Amino acid sequence: MRILVTGAAGSIGQVLLPGLADRGHEVVGLDRLPQPEGHDGPWYTLDVADPDAVAAVFAEQRLDAVVHLAGHPGEASLPDSLTSHVVTTAALLDAMVEHGVGRIVYASSNHAVGRTPRRAATEGPLPVDTRPRPDTFYGVGKVAAEALLSLYADRHGLDALACRIGSFLPQPETVRQLATWLSHDDCVRMIDACLTATAPGFAVLYGISGNTRGWWDLEAGRALGYDPQDDAEEFADRIDPRPEDAEEVAHAGGPYATAAMVRPALDRAGS
Ligand SMILES: NC(=O)c1ccc[n+]([C@@H]2O[C@H](COP(=O)([O-])OP(=O)(O)OC[C@H]3O[C@@H](n4cnc5c(N)ncnc54)[C@H](O)[C@@H]3O)[C@@H](O)[C@H]2O)c1
Repeated sequence: MRILVTGAAGSIGQVLLPGLADRGHEVVGLDRLPQPEGHDGPWYTLDVADPDAVAAVFAEQRLDAVVHLAGHPGEASLPDSLTSHVVTTAALLDAMVEHGVGRIVYASSNHAVGRTPRRAATEGPLPVDTRPRPDTFYGVGKVAAEALLSLYADRHGLDALACRIGSFLPQPETVRQLATWLSHDDCVRMIDACLTATAPGFAVLYGISGNTRGWWDLEAGRALGYDPQDDAEEFADRIDPRPEDAEEVAHAGGPYATAAMVRPALDRAGS
């Protein structure tokens, strides 16, 4: 497939570009940042929140799908979060409809449901259709972006898949991440499955590895062909306990669900 990857210069993008190429895909890279060394395919340096700039890319490139990673992966004001996650997604969806590109795979986040309290083992894993329960304005942006994907899937028949990524890292570093880790290789497996699943329509899945301590349901991902191979447990004996662990494991969003992340929605002059 020929795939536009936004946010291609970022930490996930830099793993995904070679990973998708290894799986036989052609990648067109896009980021606000210039083309990093090592990627020799087409590259666009622009802001995805600019619909004219995005439309020009689609007019120039034949594309089969979009992987949308561009966005600020952290807390910000509500307007900044909406621009970073919702407006960018909207610009891509409008261009996809205009140019007949049928599939988008979106880097959503666990923070869309981050305020969900940790479930007891007897309750079973957290389903993907649990109610949206963001932990931050970042999470609100991801919830709204998922809603937009749902709208475009219903209105235009797009395949739109939202991967609620946990903790994408070379290896887990905290007790919470023993549950939420997404390995580099599993991330490539997950995105490839989302790109190639047959007619998924709108779908949500949790983007974590097959972690022994995971408590988010992986069945929706498995139904799409995502078969995680890694398990954070392999690193458990290298992780030192910290005083903040108990608070971090209490909610899906970990540190984002704590008082430390509370801020006003809007920045005011002089603040
Ligand atoms: N890394 C994680 O553990 C994690 C977890 C959950 C969700 N996610 C989501 O995955 C996506 C990628 O995360 P990452 O860790 O690679 O972040 P990153 O900050 O390393 O990379 C994001 C990239 O997007 C680019 N970008 C941001 N806004 C842009 C815009 N408007 N136009 C063009 N380029 C823009 C940045 O320049 C950067 O290169 C984000 O949407 C993030 O919310 C990541």
